[in-house]
Amino acid sequence: MPEFSRRFCIAPMLDCSDRHNRFFLRLFSPHILLYTEMVTAAAIVFGDRDRLLGFNAEEHPVGVQLGGSNPEQLYQAAKICADYGYDEINLNCGCPSDRVQSGSFGACLMADPVLVAECIDALRGAQLPVTIKHRTGIDKQKDYEVFRAFAARQIEAGVDALIVHARNAWLQGLSPKQNRDIPPLKYDWVYRLKQDFPQTEIIINGGIKTLDSALAHLQQVDGVMLGREPYQNPFMLQKVDQVIFDEQVKPTPTRLSILHSVYPYIESQLQQDIPLSRMIRHIVGLYRGEPHAKQWRRYLCEHGNKKTGDMETLYRAEKLVE
Ligand SMILES: Cc1cc2nc3c(=O)[nH]c(=O)nc-3n(C[C@H](O)[C@H](O)[C@H](O)COP(=O)(O)O)c2cc1C
Repeated sequence: MPEFSRRFCIAPMLDCSDRHNRFFLRLFSPHILLYTEMVTAAAIVFGDRDRLLGFNAEEHPVGVQLGGSNPEQLYQAAKICADYGYDEINLNCGCPSDRVQSGSFGACLMADPVLVAECIDALRGAQLPVTIKHRTGIDKQKDYEVFRAFAARQIEAGVDALIVHARNAWLQGLSPKQNRDIPPLKYDWVYRLKQDFPQTEIIINGGIKTLDSALAHLQQVDGVMLGREPYQNPFMLQKVDQVIFDEQVKPTPTRLSILHSVYPYIESQLQQDIPLSRMIRHIVGLYRGEPHAKQWRRYLCEHGNKKTGDMETLYRAEKLVE
């Protein structure tokens, strides 16, 4: 089984962390752990697997995030993911959306620690590391001991790491977007969990925006997971290998070197009839904060989303930021 580290992870994000985004982010570091968007176990078992699970070898290490709560179906899906070559199976126990709640999975699973443990047990049958991504609790639950007991049950079930989005999920009255901002962050609970379970790998998630703050969390826990910031501002990853993995040797990437490294990939995708728009939406943040960022973004959004969008579109956009 390939060795990889969970010291710095990029979060699973629906409509964001697809294979094109992962290929692009991989250019910043060979060490970061990438995740797929959540894919439901039912979709994998009954749906178009290549479309849902296909990925490029360059993306490794990459974990697949599953949604579901039926242990047998999760097992079947995990076996299929193992055949596709994923490095880890992650179970979503943190998504509060109505759609997910009506399927009885995501964050509402936190109310049923025994079922989650059964799911973990089933997933382990696929012979891959199994992790879960969960919250500090649901609704207004304020008792650390409830959170601790949930974690303890999953550790007992053999989970390989706990990834904690350090805020509660409020199952009523908030949209998924509000649920990522309004419930207060409780980093202290995650630190305390690590102290209570020093042998268990604990990854912290939620509101981390810089490599320096990631490093500060790493004094307390084993890993960090970042979602929105590296998606919107990928160049924040420029020094991830130096700062997080203490690697000094290779030259740090520049925006232009990253762009030039992604071109051959985009070209190969265009040759397979994948529209440019599917890829550029992940790279438009590359120049964020730079003097000509707006022109570059505007040009790409306007021309890259047309059916005629091609490599020339990218070369012309590049001229705007040179
Ligand atoms: C657009 C979007 C889609 C998301 N989709 C998922 C998902 O599929 N699975 C999941 O566990 N979390 C999902 N999340 C939550 C993130 O993984 C992460 O927990 C959250 O954004 C907090 O981290 P951050 O503050 O670094 O962004 C999503 C977040 C966003 C913004």
